[in-house]
Amino acid sequence: MKKVRKVVIPVAGFGTRFLPATKATPKEMMPIVDKPIIQYIVEEAVSAGIETVIFVTGRHKRAIEDHFDYAPDLEEALERSGKEELVELIRNISDMAQFVYVRQKQQLGLGHAILTAEHIVGDEPFAVILGDELVINDKNPAIGQLIDVYNKFGKSVVGTTDVPKEETHKYGIVDGKTVEDGIKLVNYLVEKPSPAEAPSTSAIIGRYVLTPKIFDALKRTPLGKGNELQLTDALMTLRKEEVIYSKDIEGVRHDTGNKIGYIKAIIDFALTREDTSEFMKQLILEKAKELNEQKVQN
Ligand code: G1P
Repeated sequence: MKKVRKVVIPVAGFGTRFLPATKATPKEMMPIVDKPIIQYIVEEAVSAGIETVIFVTGRHKRAIEDHFDYAPDLEEALERSGKEELVELIRNISDMAQFVYVRQKQQLGLGHAILTAEHIVGDEPFAVILGDELVINDKNPAIGQLIDVYNKFGKSVVGTTDVPKEETHKYGIVDGKTVEDGIKLVNYLVEKPSPAEAPSTSAIIGRYVLTPKIFDALKRTPLGKGNELQLTDALMTLRKEEVIYSKDIEGVRHDTGNKIGYIKAIIDFALTREDTSEFMKQLILEKAKELNEQKVQN
């Protein structure tokens, strides 16, 4: 069985939910404390053994390429001022993996973005990570958990988590039969169903390991929700020919694709980092006190 060595990360989206911040800056470059979201995603992939990162990119995304490239002028300036630690910090970012960029010329959906990477992925299984959700698990990264399932069964795996019923319209929803603790054999997938139509509350959270057969399935799948080529629909096409598994992802999940989730992620990360945690705790306690006093006065 072939090893999962490559990850496809679609980054062509406009990031309209974060305008004006994303007018000239890719949403993937927005920092959680001082590290861009996209770097957390790449680190997750690399710590699961991925060697090649394929970005499906678009216009106005040059900053991502620069972030994962060497920066000789910056390194030189840092060296001159004796900041060796920072030189290492920025150099390591480029040395983590091999980076490949492919342009999605038109935004025709997530399925279309994946299809754009076909000639680079080739005939081997590959991972997909979507940048809107960060999952923190120091023992086994989210995508590593799916790779483990792939290594056991040799079939496509989608990463899932249980969501409240009223939120099914935000996700691809899967239904299946439990075969092992947290692992299901999928029998049905549907993109963003209303709560009434949803077959379950098991939602896909932006982590996939796919067999290369998905490319052929994508080509045979009609446009779906929003008149876009949906990966969820293509998985349903594939499901008719090959079994698919789902795996409940273990870890702390942050939905950084919306404002509140993004702010919460920054607070949570700042609370766990050595250089910021003490200050952050104090800040929260002070703010809580202030708000309580205001409440009493009102
Ligand atoms: C995409 C997928 C959806 C999945 C979601 C996870 O939707 O189409 O199936 O549940 O990512 O974040 P998007 O959020 O890009 O609209």
